[in-house]
Amino acid sequence: MSAVAEQTQVGARLADRINALEESSTLAMTKMARELAAQGHKVISLSVGEPDFKTPAHICEAAKKAIDDGFHGYSPVAGYPDLRKAIADKLKRDNNIDWKPENIVVSTGAKHSLANVIQVLINPGDEVVIFAPYWVSYSEMVKLAEGKSVIVDGAFDNDFKVTAAQLEAAITPRTKIVMYASPNNPTGAVYSEQELREIAAVLEKHDDIYVLADEIYEYINFTEEGHFSIGSIPALKDRVITVNGVAKGYAMTGWRIGFIAASKWIADGVEKLQGQVTSGTNSIAQKAATAAFNGTMEPSIEMAKAYQRRRDLVVGLLREIPGFKVNMPQGAFYAFPDVSYYFGKSDGTTTINGSDDFANWLLNNSFVSTVAGSGFGAPDCIRISTAAADEALVEAVQRIKDAVATLK
Ligand SMILES: Cc1ncc(COP(=O)(O)O)c(C=O)c1O
Repeated sequence: MSAVAEQTQVGARLADRINALEESSTLAMTKMARELAAQGHKVISLSVGEPDFKTPAHICEAAKKAIDDGFHGYSPVAGYPDLRKAIADKLKRDNNIDWKPENIVVSTGAKHSLANVIQVLINPGDEVVIFAPYWVSYSEMVKLAEGKSVIVDGAFDNDFKVTAAQLEAAITPRTKIVMYASPNNPTGAVYSEQELREIAAVLEKHDDIYVLADEIYEYINFTEEGHFSIGSIPALKDRVITVNGVAKGYAMTGWRIGFIAASKWIADGVEKLQGQVTSGTNSIAQKAATAAFNGTMEPSIEMAKAYQRRRDLVVGLLREIPGFKVNMPQGAFYAFPDVSYYFGKSDGTTTINGSDDFANWLLNNSFVSTVAGSGFGAPDCIRISTAAADEALVEAVQRIKDAVATLK
């Protein structure tokens, strides 16, 4: 049977909800980069969204101790009490959000936390306003819950941020959730306190709309003002679901710990769902996360300094490439150049007809893997991770510069 026929047959057996899902573009590019590397090409992989640092030693020690101390059994569905307490303390200390441990549910990564909340709050046809550019999984999570994504574009000239007026125009009687990430993946944009207060003022007029605030990059923030949590605004507190975790700020992507902090009825809903689908998350990782939230921030601060230095390096070099338009990310570890100047141009063999073509062509011609902006709702851009060694970043940007010089 041909591969296409086989795929069609599999598609007929799979549930519609799975057939309707898009593959993660980030993971697809990473897979292609691995295949080229396996063929012997010197690939520089800048497509994955993960720190290139190791988890700090004191956190690893806590995990080893948890194994020795016998934390081998099922944990409570919502997480161990000491972890939920550590998260409540962290929220008070860093975010000015006052929730009790019972308002917190720990899950298998922030991705799981976000998906849980959408499943718990969205009925078929409910609308979720998503600030674009957005993280690739948001719209797919909404699709799985049979909700409708309403994408609102942040303009390049406003550092890719959505304004309060834009939000107001997007709200309808079906709007149930407004969701965004700050600092943002893929743009690195950071919403200021002022901007979030303006957004909050719009939402204060709609007491049936919830806010899903994804703060996973909180500790990678280069602004002087620092991070502001919309959940700290008293008028909105009961309607904000704050999502965070350990993946990015503590270099713990593989440990899989995320959490929500929300009104008790929402936390209870998430606990109920999780109790039937996954149960409490990994017990050893929970002990490691407790050490992370209770411990020194020194390693995280050092990592953030390195990301900032690399941001300066990469943005400086990218801005020297003719036709690239590059914003200055204020957080996270990505650069997100607008490369649309090259759309319609050709190297004599391949014509670049959008960001997917651009990222594929770049991978096959310069062996630098990036991710097309299309999956992030920004089809003029590509995402370049800056979580790599300085030398690799310099070489990657040089290869990109040399490659695009052949496009006419
Ligand atoms: C914006 C955003 N939210 C959430 C996540 C998921 O984080 P976790 O690894 O904790 O599931 C990511 C990971 O890439 C992300 O970029």
